[in-house]
This record gives sequence, C-alpha cells and structure tokens, in this order.
Amino acid sequence: MVYIVWWKESVVYQIYPNSFKDSDGDGQGDLQGIYDKLDYLTGLGVDVIWICPIYDSPGHDNGYDIRDYYSILRKYGTMEDFDRLLAEAHKRGLKIMMDLVLNHTSDEHAWFAESRSSQVNPKRDYYIWRSGKNGQVPNNWESYFGGSVWKHDPETNEYYLHLYTEHQPDLNWNNAQMAEEMYEMVHWWLQKGVDGFRFDAVAHIAKAEGLPSAHNPDNLPVVPAYQLFSNLEQVHSILNKLNDMILKPYGPMTVGETSGLGPEQALAYVGTDRNELNMVFQFEHMFVDAQSSGIGKWNHRDWKLPELKEIMSRWQTVLHDRGWNANYMGNHDQPRPVSRFGNDGKYRVRSAQMLATWMLTLEGTPYIYQGEEIGMTNVAFLDIEDYRDIETMNYYRQHIGQGRAKHEVMQAIWRKSRDNARTPMQWDDTKHAGFTDGEPWIQVNENYPEINVADAERDPQSILHYYRKLIALRKQHKVLIYGAYELLLPDDPDIYAYTRTLDEEQMLVILNFREHEPEMQWPEGWNDENAKTVISNVSRRYSTDKGAILLQPYEARIYRMQR
Ligand code: GLC
Repeated sequence: MVYIVWWKESVVYQIYPNSFKDSDGDGQGDLQGIYDKLDYLTGLGVDVIWICPIYDSPGHDNGYDIRDYYSILRKYGTMEDFDRLLAEAHKRGLKIMMDLVLNHTSDEHAWFAESRSSQVNPKRDYYIWRSGKNGQVPNNWESYFGGSVWKHDPETNEYYLHLYTEHQPDLNWNNAQMAEEMYEMVHWWLQKGVDGFRFDAVAHIAKAEGLPSAHNPDNLPVVPAYQLFSNLEQVHSILNKLNDMILKPYGPMTVGETSGLGPEQALAYVGTDRNELNMVFQFEHMFVDAQSSGIGKWNHRDWKLPELKEIMSRWQTVLHDRGWNANYMGNHDQPRPVSRFGNDGKYRVRSAQMLATWMLTLEGTPYIYQGEEIGMTNVAFLDIEDYRDIETMNYYRQHIGQGRAKHEVMQAIWRKSRDNARTPMQWDDTKHAGFTDGEPWIQVNENYPEINVADAERDPQSILHYYRKLIALRKQHKVLIYGAYELLLPDDPDIYAYTRTLDEEQMLVILNFREHEPEMQWPEGWNDENAKTVISNVSRRYSTDKGAILLQPYEARIYRMQR
C-alpha cells in the first residue's frame, strides 16, 4: 500500500476571517490580515487554510448568507486581494480551502429578489415556496435558530423555507437550472486555483418529498424535524453529479458538514467507492454535553469520558480503510475546547496540550480552529448586547420571552454560544490584543494579556510550541496518519488511551482528562523498557513502585514501541 494522499497527510487550520486579523482599522478582520499572518501559519506547520465565507453578504449570519458567490465582501477586500492571497499562499506551499454554502443564499441574492417577485418568475422555483394551510405555516418544522422554518412573504402571499435564519432562504435542488448555475460557480472557483471546499450544511440540500410535517405527539407549534431534511438519498446523487461534472479533474480536498449521522451512514459520503466527499464533519461528539442534538445543544448535561471515547472510537474503526475522518474539537460554531473538555483555569496550558495530542494522533485529517493553538477560552459577556451571533440572540429573545430567568439563559449562552469561538484572535498584549487598531466588531476576551501569540512565542513550554512539535511529529511518523487505531480501557472514566499501528510501527497515546492523578497499568506488550517517550506535556514521568504509570493532571504522553 502506498501512503501518499495529500489531503490525508495535511493539517488544516480554520480561519474565521472577521476575527482573525484586521489590517485597516475598521475593527473587522480582512484578507490583508490573513496575508500578513502567512508566516505565522507556515511556522505552525499547517498545510491548508480553510477560510470561512468571504463572499459578498449582508452578514446576518456572518457570511453564511451569501449575496454574490462571485465577489468578495468589501470589508474583507477585493477579488484582487484574494488572488494575491492565493498566489502567496501557494508560493509558500499552503493550500486554500473555501467555505461554500450550497444549501441556501442570502435573501438579498439576485435570484431571491427575482424569485419572490412573482409566482411565475422563472426563478420562483430556485427556492422552496408553499402556500399556507388554513392560515398556518405549511408544516411544523423547527428552524435551527428557533421558530418555524417558514416565512410568510406578503408580496405573493406564500411562504418560503429557511432552515437557518429568515435571511437564508433554502435553495431548491430539484430545480435543474439552479443546480447548473451552482455547478458552474464551483467550477469558477476551481479554475481560479482554490484547493478545496468545505460544503456548509450540505446534509440538508435535499428535503423529504412533499415536505411532510414531523411526528408531533404534543401538538407543539414547531418540532425538530432533522430526519426530514438531513442526509437523504438525493444529497448523494447531487454530490455524485458534482464530482463527475466538476470536481474530478481538479481533485480538490472536500469536506462536508453533515450533522445527524453515524459512521456507517457517513460511509455513503466518504466511502472510497462513493465518488462524493473526502471527509465529513460529524457531530456526535459535539452533543456529549447536550440533552439532545440540534437545538437541544442549549440544554446542558455533564459529559462523560467513556461516552466520548465510544463515539470517537466508533468513527475511527468504522472508517478505517473504508473512508477517512475529519477530526475536530472546536470550530466557529462550538465553544472553546479547553473550556469544554479541558480546564481553562489552573491547568489551561496543560489541558490544551493534552487535547491537542488527542486531535493530532487520531486517524483522519486534523482541523485546528484559530486560537486553539494558544488555548483561547470561552467568554462570558454579562450583557446580551455584547453578543453578536444571531443564533445566540434568537435563543435569548425566545427564552426570555417565555419567562425563563435571565441568569439561567445567560448560563446556557456562556456555555454554548457560538460567540465563544468568535472573539478576536489574541495576537499580543497591546490594546484589543493586537487584532485591530480600531474598535473590534465584537469584544476581545479580557484574558488577552495572559493568553496571546506573542507570549506563547516567547515561552518554550507554551501550547503553541507544543502544537508545532506535534504537527512535525505527525508528519515524521506515518503511523500517526495511517495507523490502525485501537482503544484501550474503554470504561476508564479518566484516561483516554489508544494505540496506533502501521506495519512494524506502534505508538501508544495516553491522555489524562482529569485534574487528579489516575494510575494506569502498562497495556499488553508494553513496559518501562520498550516504551520510548516521543512527546509529553509534562517534563517528568512518575511511575509507581509497581511499574504502573502514575499520570499527572491532564498529562498527555505518546510512546513509541522500541523493538
Ligand atoms: C453551518 C455553519 C454555521 C452557519 C450555518 C448556516 O452550520 O457552520 O456557522 O450558521 O451553517 O449556514
């Protein structure tokens, strides 16, 4: 077997452009800001940058509401700036992956203006329009951002469907003309030379035939109806066609955002025989601390390590040799991992390093979200006015409206708001963390004097330097990329340990997810003599007199078998 597939061997760094680096003092990040930080990115050792949407957009959902797929949002720069960024990235061996929204456009997109203008407009059918039922919405589906998925449009007295905000009408992929125009647009970006795509919300581009209402025993006005618009058969035929018609000759890296599936179902997207996507972002592990998936994310439950291990291990083993994983623990929609799965107090540095060790030693392509490499944490703004995210604001309005106590609602927001991950990147300890000379569009996390890139650069023990070492290590040892994964101690509540094996090479990864000091016996075949430490986030290993391993708080350690 030849192990050389560039997108499997790459480490991806996700940029949220609004919050990455502002170069012109308007308080919002821009393409020049990314350009200025290319050295930082190559210095980190990443291979691909995924940039969240930078297309022209009114910004109701920070760019995920695209007004024009062919132009760059003014505040980010111009198409010339983009071309220059792409060329300069390529010169340095960095690839660029675009974030493309195929499920919906902005309600300010020219197509939608036409579509809503009359029932007989040729573009009417580009979107999903229905008449009401006895003065009510056409069905009972609940939007991801709360409320109904239907919005009444007085112009033609019909409703249009929006799974996200009302400013993001869903496209109708049954319309061949619309699909053609989308394929053409993807082609246009490939011709420009971009290296890959993250297909936003791609699981939802097909909806159940006839748009039936979801089961609703309690007769609620709206209910979650994910199974009626997620991962349906038609999504696969669309992706197949996209590959055959457009993607194939270019061989871009592709990752689809697909909530609501397990690894067996994911094989339908990423199976080597499927001709669809290289990878998908799965969500199972993102709901270990929620009462239910989707909108249930706001209702907290304490997460348990055995459950997290079970989920990750299932994905590791089912996809091995049959597909490929996309591994992530945070992104622009999720809380900061160190606050969520680690410890953002006393053990912030060590636990962030432990979590990094986890992500960089799983089978699959690792995705690092901006700021993870310095251990940025959640924020807790006291005032809802300081939040910017539409999902957060809708949640607040809805729940305060229903009479829930403010402190309870804010508690949920502090835990789960997407703005946790969207505060500006902390570059140094000067005003606004060196992100901007102006007023930032969202406040900087007040811990920036302690947590910032400049400081991390100076400290050899920092999270940043540890990431660099881990990334280099992964490139050096193919076993960390392609090796088979085997979980050890599935029920252990504190320790996450596994081996990776490729031909003669074997590595053992041990992660202590706790503040206390659990003890671990050597797994079969391993002992004090044959285990050589490759990297660790603590300087000295403690063994007990019985020859077991005594782990320090949040210790991470990778051993290599010395034969
Ligand atoms: C995806 C994006 C998210 C956005 C949504 C609608 O989930 O990651 O940020 O709000 O799609 O486009």
